[in-house]
Amino acid sequence: MIRTKVLGLGSYVPDRVVGNEELRFLNDQHVRQETEQADTTDEWIQRRTGIVERRYVPNDGKTGTSDLALIASQRALADAGVAAKDIDCIILGTLSPDIHFPGTAVFLQDKLGIAGDGKALSCACFDIRQQCSAIVYGLQMADAFIRAGIYKRVLLVGAETHSHSLDYSTRGRDVMVLFGDGAGAFVLGPSEDDDPRSGVMYTDCRADGTGAWNLYLKIFDIAKLPYVDYDSRNRDENQMMYPQMDGKRVFLNAVRAMVMSAQKALTSTGLTWADIDWFVPHQANLRINEKVVEVANIPADKVLNSIQFYGNTTAATIPLTIDHWRQQGKVKQGDRVLATVFGAGFTWGSAIFQV
Ligand code: ACO
Repeated sequence: MIRTKVLGLGSYVPDRVVGNEELRFLNDQHVRQETEQADTTDEWIQRRTGIVERRYVPNDGKTGTSDLALIASQRALADAGVAAKDIDCIILGTLSPDIHFPGTAVFLQDKLGIAGDGKALSCACFDIRQQCSAIVYGLQMADAFIRAGIYKRVLLVGAETHSHSLDYSTRGRDVMVLFGDGAGAFVLGPSEDDDPRSGVMYTDCRADGTGAWNLYLKIFDIAKLPYVDYDSRNRDENQMMYPQMDGKRVFLNAVRAMVMSAQKALTSTGLTWADIDWFVPHQANLRINEKVVEVANIPADKVLNSIQFYGNTTAATIPLTIDHWRQQGKVKQGDRVLATVFGAGFTWGSAIFQV
């Protein structure tokens, strides 16, 4: 029986550090705008979200999601000792794709140098659209592909360039303070170890489409004529250009779903918290994670967060957080992680795997 294991892990955040105070002086072109400063404070952001700073791509209009994905992927491939040419499937999760179509995975494939002339049998490329839950959804897909013998080397990437599509005015302050740019990647492959606790042990994915309009970014509405309204960012009633969020509803649903999902992961596998080295929750708001830990009675010394440094990097948070704490020497090879995610859709899920 083939099992799946993590062969390597990598992450990347841009060098540009943006503190909470600086956010007040940005607009959507990232230039100083004297006339409009968002009404927010470092104190509010830290108290309500736990975020101290986040990373943004350089202010040159040249760096997009596939560029961040490329560096995280190269680091994960190096960590795994796998050559890019040996990848036979890319699964890329993002809500900030390079362009509307084709998907960003093919741009990543090209940048990895494994596309083009003479490579007619090059790898498959999937884009998945599960926002903050994409890594767990992608891990379930990768695990199924590998167990079925369809693919042997899967590159699973989460990458986001949020900073270009946020509303930096007071109107958008509840959303814009949360997000940061970054990428994280896993390389997955088959394992010889038939211990059912080894490698990728468990994945579970869920969704509730009634929550779709509680957190969304439209950009366009394909049912409408014209389907893109280029003036929309100037109209309060028709906010097509920026993410819209009912923060309280998202918060409550996130806590409830993450608690149930993490507990189900343990009951389904027969594990207890003593068998888990690290609980890695999605990084949307430190208060959400503290509430989940409190309600699910999770040992506080097993919880890894990184939102303080990176904000919410959506599809990237799980590999980015694990890699951050691995670099600090906390996470070791072979440690067993329970990752629990929640995001727009609503979508959520959990996975148990060894790093
Ligand atoms: N700075 C200052 N004041 C603010 C800010 C800000 N950045 N944002 C909102 N406020 C104000 C509000 O306008 C409100 O003012 P009022 O009382 O005069 O009306 C006050 O602060 C309190 O607002 P609340 O919404 O009650 O604040 P809350 O404590 O709920 O925090 C937040 C808001 C941070 C957005 C929170 O609700 C949250 O984190 N929600 C979940 C976010 C999330 O999980 N997103 C999902 C992941 S993302 C994905 O999947 C794509």
